[in-house]
Amino acid sequence: MRNRQVSVWVAVSLGAVGFLLGVWASPGGRTTAADKADQPKTSPESWLKGTTDERFTTTERHLRGLDVSMLEIGHRYGELLVAGRERNWDHAIYQAEKIDLSLRLAVERRPKRGEAAKPFLAADLPPVLAAAKAKDAEKLDAALTRLHAGCVECHKKENVLYFKSAVDRIKVSASR
Ligand code: HEC
Repeated sequence: MRNRQVSVWVAVSLGAVGFLLGVWASPGGRTTAADKADQPKTSPESWLKGTTDERFTTTERHLRGLDVSMLEIGHRYGELLVAGRERNWDHAIYQAEKIDLSLRLAVERRPKRGEAAKPFLAADLPPVLAAAKAKDAEKLDAALTRLHAGCVECHKKENVLYFKSAVDRIKVSASR
């Protein structure tokens, strides 16, 4: 009888130890140093939630794609045209360089647009920069005309030719 009680007690104890070990070893059952490192220290009100990877994914989504870059490029294109008209060389250089940077970063985020961007980046934009740096008014005017066609050419390739009037409108507003 006594022996039986001891073996029941041993069995129950072993079961409890096994259960606790199971909880400790199960994923989520304990917090490892790696888990802690993966929980960024931000305020509880932050709109970025979850692990570092999840927060990167959310941030990536909020960075948006080519559409937002095109708003920037459209604005800078208008400023570039005004700078060209006023022969404000440094301003023209600044805007041309920012258009270059913005488009390069945009196609890094949207690589499928990269091929269509190549002629613009390699052949249409550099003459604008070169003419502004050389303070060559005639060359700048010709390069800006070519640049406009470069914008429209890429829109055509990317099946968004319906933006032609938007690009044309930027040019009209910049000439006033
Ligand atoms: C990679 C080729 C490419 C080049 C080069 C390019 N665009 Fe675009 N553009 C696009 C695409 C693609 C869209 C549509 C964006 C989308 O669907 O996400 C667009 C959209 C636009 C829009 C509409 C944005 C909106 O959401 O209302 C404007 C304005 C625009 N581009 C201006 C320009 C101007 C100005 C230039 C030249 C200085 C230019 N683009 C050069 C590909 C290009």
